[in-house]
Amino acid sequence: MIKSIILLLAGAVAGAFAGNSIAHRLAAPHRHPRAVMTLLGFHHDRLDAATKAGQCADIASERARLSSLQQEIALAFPLTYKQEAPFRKNVDALGAALQTTAAEPAAAGAVASAAVTPVATCPDASVQYKKVTDACDECHRVYDPA
Ligand code: HEC
Repeated sequence: MIKSIILLLAGAVAGAFAGNSIAHRLAAPHRHPRAVMTLLGFHHDRLDAATKAGQCADIASERARLSSLQQEIALAFPLTYKQEAPFRKNVDALGAALQTTAAEPAAAGAVASAAVTPVATCPDASVQYKKVTDACDECHRVYDPA
């Protein structure tokens, strides 16, 4: 009787360990994608706050962070990125939304002065913010409907 109780307990303990490590292994592949998305969410929130407060320097640095995380999406979702053209398109769209406005056509002469003058105003910050948000939403509509 005691022997079978001990066996039962030993089995339960061993089972708990095995279950734990299986759960751990199953969860591990999702850690990087979730980490990247969690950070995108965090910096997207900060971009929102900076945009509402009109803090141009913060807007620029949050966009730079989002941009480097955007480049990490392909690493975080290697299979989906490789197999799904619409997913790649969504990654590119987010990249485009995060491009600096420097690439936009400027009046002759404006480029040189823009290079030396620190940005003091950022009039289309909320338009830019919306483009980023739309790019996030576009991918989530298909790939993370949760
Ligand atoms: C190319 C597709 C794609 C783009 C672009 C994208 N996401 Fe995601 N996002 C996903 C997928 C897929 C998931 C589900 C990940 C999972 O649960 O493993 C997700 C999940 C999330 C989550 C939930 C994370 C969690 O805890 O499970 C947040 C927050 C998030 N994304 C924020 C953002 C923000 C902010 C942006 C834009 C700046 C963005 N995402 C752009 C594909 C994308």
